[in-house]
Amino acid sequence: MQAHSHKCSHKSSIESANRMRTVELLEVKEENCTTKTLTFQDQICKLAEPGQFLMVWIPGVDEIPISLSGIRCDGVTSITVNAVGDATRVLNQKKKGEIIGIRGPFGKGFVPVKGNVMVIGGGTGLGPMMPLTEKLVETASKITVMSGVKCQDNLLFLDRIAKLLCDVNSETICTTEDGSYGFEGLVTSQLEKKLANEKVDMIYTCGPEPMMYHVFRLAEQYNVPVQASLERIMRCGIGLCGSCVIGEIRVCKDGPVLTSEQLRRIKDEFGKSRLDWTGKKVKQ
Ligand SMILES: Cc1cc2nc3c(=O)[nH]c(=O)nc-3n(C[C@H](O)[C@H](O)[C@H](O)COP(=O)(O)OP(=O)(O)OC[C@H]3O[C@@H](n4cnc5c(N)ncnc54)[C@H](O)[C@@H]3O)c2cc1C
Ligand code: FES
Repeated sequence: MQAHSHKCSHKSSIESANRMRTVELLEVKEENCTTKTLTFQDQICKLAEPGQFLMVWIPGVDEIPISLSGIRCDGVTSITVNAVGDATRVLNQKKKGEIIGIRGPFGKGFVPVKGNVMVIGGGTGLGPMMPLTEKLVETASKITVMSGVKCQDNLLFLDRIAKLLCDVNSETICTTEDGSYGFEGLVTSQLEKKLANEKVDMIYTCGPEPMMYHVFRLAEQYNVPVQASLERIMRCGIGLCGSCVIGEIRVCKDGPVLTSEQLRRIKDEFGKSRLDWTGKKVKQ
């Protein structure tokens, strides 16, 4: 009887999350030259886990998956969007007061743990790491946030990270590929140094797949568990259409955050191939 009522409430929560809501933008904040944070109010999003995503409808253009970069208990929610194509460009041109549609939050998010943790964001991948870091401040004994970008102009959230970490045992490491800020080179080189010198309990990561693949390889070498947020083409967002599959995993439903154990199961495809818009397997 109890199991039955639990099942019903779970089903109804997915149904209500999957209902498209139109929301008015409360704020549009420029983060860097290509990236903006859009804020709106939504009562369903206040229960989201860090790492979960929304399907965002841009009227007349497309519906695309975007992770939550801000989750608050009063329902004030934000997404951080990097303009790469039609949908993301139009989304980032929206002004305060304009309307977008949202479904979600969907998928499995990050699970905060105790101990010494590394939080690694590549480019806009730092977005979902922000609500995660807010949770880790309550659980972890040490937090190292690593942000890897191409150049200084692509840096994100430095003030927000500094404020979040000011009262806890923490470290912030920035890398730029051109050496214009922080360490020159790839964030994975800094991770390798850390892993060689510290006992790490969990690595969280989101960013370009080659970066995450490298993070995963290092983590396996040093025997550290990983939680990584993957990107694939998504249409339904709820496990029905198959556009996001990797092996037996549907990234929208089983992920987007996958554990080391799940990443091992898809090691033939992770970092190597993905499905294109037609469903054909293509190289990364
Ligand atoms: C679970 C999930 C969470 C996501 N969270 C975020 C987020 O928080 N913020 C965010 O900005 N994006 C996020 N994305 C990526 C976002 O969905 C895509 O950038 C978006 O769908 C691109 O749509 P478009 O019409 O603007 O570009 P398209 O016209 O679809 O693509 C334009 C060009 O950009 C390339 N491209 C597509 N996606 C990316 C990308 N992510 N990075 C670099 N180049 C790309 C394409 O290969 C193509 O060449 C997420 C994706 C997933 C699956
Ligand atoms: S997006 Fe449809 S199954 Fe994942």
